[in-house]
Amino acid sequence: MNYKRHTVTAALPYANGPVHIGHLAGCYLPADIYVRYLRSKGEDVKFICGSDEHGVPITIKAKKEGITPQQVVDKYHKIMGDAFKEFGISFDIYSRTSSKTHHETASEFFKTLYDKGVFEEEITEQYFDEKANQFLADRYIVGTCPKCGNENAYGDQCENCGSTLNATDLINPKSTLSGEKPVLKKTKNWFLPLDKMQPQIEAYIDSHKDWKANVYGQCKSWLNAGLQPRAMTRDLDWGVKVPVDGAEGKVLYVWFDAPIGYISATKDLFEPGERRKENGEAMWEKYWKDKETKLVHFIGKDNIVFHCIIFPAMLMAEGSYILPENVPANEFLNLEGNKISTSRNWAVWLHEYLLEFKDKQDVLRYTLCANAPETKDNDFTWKDFQAKNNNELVAILGNFVNRTLVLTHKYYDGVVPVAEEYNKNDILLLEEITKYPAKIAASIEQYRFREALAELMNLARSGNKYLADNEPWKIAGTDANRVKTIMNIALQICANLTIVMEPFLPFTSNKLTTMLNLNEGLKWNDATRTDLLLAGHKINTASLLFEKVEDEQITFQVNKLSNSKMENELANNKSEVQGQKPEITFDDFSKMDIRVGTILEAERVPKTDKLLKLKIDTGIDIRTVVSGIAQYYKPEDIIGQQVSILVNLAPRMLKNIESRGMILCSENEKGELSFVSPIKTGTNNGAIIK
Ligand code: MF3
Ligand code: ZN
Repeated sequence: MNYKRHTVTAALPYANGPVHIGHLAGCYLPADIYVRYLRSKGEDVKFICGSDEHGVPITIKAKKEGITPQQVVDKYHKIMGDAFKEFGISFDIYSRTSSKTHHETASEFFKTLYDKGVFEEEITEQYFDEKANQFLADRYIVGTCPKCGNENAYGDQCENCGSTLNATDLINPKSTLSGEKPVLKKTKNWFLPLDKMQPQIEAYIDSHKDWKANVYGQCKSWLNAGLQPRAMTRDLDWGVKVPVDGAEGKVLYVWFDAPIGYISATKDLFEPGERRKENGEAMWEKYWKDKETKLVHFIGKDNIVFHCIIFPAMLMAEGSYILPENVPANEFLNLEGNKISTSRNWAVWLHEYLLEFKDKQDVLRYTLCANAPETKDNDFTWKDFQAKNNNELVAILGNFVNRTLVLTHKYYDGVVPVAEEYNKNDILLLEEITKYPAKIAASIEQYRFREALAELMNLARSGNKYLADNEPWKIAGTDANRVKTIMNIALQICANLTIVMEPFLPFTSNKLTTMLNLNEGLKWNDATRTDLLLAGHKINTASLLFEKVEDEQITFQVNKLSNSKMENELANNKSEVQGQKPEITFDDFSKMDIRVGTILEAERVPKTDKLLKLKIDTGIDIRTVVSGIAQYYKPEDIIGQQVSILVNLAPRMLKNIESRGMILCSENEKGELSFVSPIKTGTNNGAIIK
């Protein structure tokens, strides 16, 4: 089916930190390539994005930085919006979910479903942190994922296996506010009955077998597991207030409000257009309600269920909206073999990249697209970045364009020569050239951007090879007519390149367009022509499109990464070191009698996982000590080992065993214990530690 217009969205990023290469590669770059291509085809398209400013990720960040959630989102909304703009991500609007339009839109949407009786109102037990005196929704709670065993799964989702969870599914739940085990407390919430909607949702997914295998596969596995009702409200105070009676202190679930953010942003785009009607219909509505609009969501893989199941379910329940036609989700991009992590500072930040690689946005766009995690997780390495720049952008595309322009200036003072006479190879090449736009387009339309980029480079490669095979510089003095033809063809290829490279390398395309003094209004289909530059047309001065990236620059980046990681680890450990205890006198200290002793026997205390029963020669006597080290030492490994033992501690009964004394241990940040050592070999039992 042919569509009249396109609504293309890229996931609204949480406004809780700057943008890194993982974000760009995950959805913003592919979405931008797709949209730029559509615009070049002359399609009617709106590219929608904005900041996701609600939800627990924001309030957690606010707490960490000691500022309000509003201050957090104000700060990062600007930083993120600027970074996208600098990298040429050409949103038609970059909006935000704290806007008035959004609060109204999300609120109305909820109210519509509520009035239609879609929600199930239910009192359930939710986790509550008694210390922090609040309910623990979503990321306020971590625990072990019941599906994959990941110990850091969130209350609403496991980022390891992608499962959506309810907080009460987690094994060993822990509050991220206080670190405490939460208690269950009754509260009322409104649930979307996904279980009852399963047949409709299933039919929708089944009608999209054309989706990327990773996306379709994930959807099917959720459907096979059976959908569960999901709460669309939360007991939190940051977000869109639940607009019904009896919902004080509750807000909409962030994953209910955020996708509606796409709709609100579209309204904002036509502002004051919500009121600007065309043929009696609000403009924004055409992009959301007209069946002839193709709605495509670009996202990362952790967002699949929300865009393929929950949001479509909301739209179906509302009734007046179109459904997503495709959701081309990418997998994750890793960095130098490790998962990108903001908290561990394992990332390449866009704003920092620009400081170090000024005006080289396209090099990053190129590398990220060539390596895009389209079908599986992929790795970004600085070495590969250098190789792609030097061996592909510089050596192929840059070299071809530069040779062509430099020779044109040298031979013809920058005036495009006439193509005198084509030989057989010229004709074959010209035919080949005209096929590229369709080939590249086919790949883009199937969301295969790596393949499309490779085709684009093949066009540059053909041009490069043409010059190398025909060596105009060798015949410049002998066959002027032949040289004119060769240079004319090479120039046409340069002109075509400006068009087909534009979605991928917009900055370079602009630069080359200026150098060729080419009409800026060229469209995709113009790239099928081989006469974009007419004989007699004067081109502008040439400069290099790309420069080599030197080894030192790469070493610098690699070192920077490992430094920042080390610094971060140090800082993290520091924050876990407890403050100094109150002062004591030397007398206080001398009251403790700490001796060197040897472990003679060791065995597990039955029915416990932590305790070992030790028999210890203290030099004074042989005595029994119960010690909580069973998870860190095997009994057979420690027999004969010398340890430090506090011998004058009052005896204690542990599991019916009298323990007389305490072994000194250090405890690391993970809570693991190890004996305090070293003790010089040959030290006698009973030696005093002071
Ligand atoms: N903020 C979410 C994330 O970063 C994405 C939200 S996408 C939207 O994972 F659809 F909800 F907007
Ligand atoms: Zn999991």
